[in-house]
Amino acid sequence: MEVKDTYVVTILLDVNNDQDVDDRAESRSYIVADRNSGQAIIIDTVIENVDRDLRITKELGLTLLFAVETHIHADHITGASLIQERTGAQIVYGGGAKGTVTGADQFLFEDEALRFGHTVLTALATPGHTDGCTSYMLPGAVFTGDALFIRSNGRTDLQGGSAEKLFDSVRKKLFALPDDTVVYPGHDYQGRVSSTIREEKQFNERLNLSISKDTFVGVMNQRKTPRPAKMDIAIPANMRAGKIGP
Ligand SMILES: [Fe+2]
Repeated sequence: MEVKDTYVVTILLDVNNDQDVDDRAESRSYIVADRNSGQAIIIDTVIENVDRDLRITKELGLTLLFAVETHIHADHITGASLIQERTGAQIVYGGGAKGTVTGADQFLFEDEALRFGHTVLTALATPGHTDGCTSYMLPGAVFTGDALFIRSNGRTDLQGGSAEKLFDSVRKKLFALPDDTVVYPGHDYQGRVSSTIREEKQFNERLNLSISKDTFVGVMNQRKTPRPAKMDIAIPANMRAGKIGP
């Protein structure tokens, strides 16, 4: 748990030991709670973890107002619809997902904000991993989804991905945030939980400030990354905000 002036971030790791059939492991979800009101949101939930996540929100005495998604995930099914069903929380996607996702209550376009208590979460369009990827900013923190990882970045070869767009999203938008901004990624495969914009400008392996756009694009376009095992199930389900069945 990380406590800030107005909000508390609870970092939720995915736990999955069966990677042969399911590669959702290492997805990160976050509960952000407004300290005074107890109003809260959950970012990028995973359907298999909904019971755990709702138990935690209950223990913490929180009221979940929004289930927020950074993008249409290819590697796991979102828990957003199940959370909506169980708590009445509204489902929020970034504006870039409008027209692709059904079942969302709200689409947040660049600079638009969600308010819960005194906490304000603002959308920042960061396409490149998918064409509709959105990051979400709090004062002093940013949830980058699969645009920017700790020392790395999301793949750019699926779902309208573009290495050129990702480079611009990271370098022109995310790296324009204050250096002390805490970065909370959509995944981490080495057990790390957060970074800062300063660290990533310096140490990100593909996107640090010494690397040119041409170099980055060349590297990304040569990568051969296996398809996510659950992609053919996850993408259609996530285009319905994680709603399964008819
Ligand atoms: Fe993703």
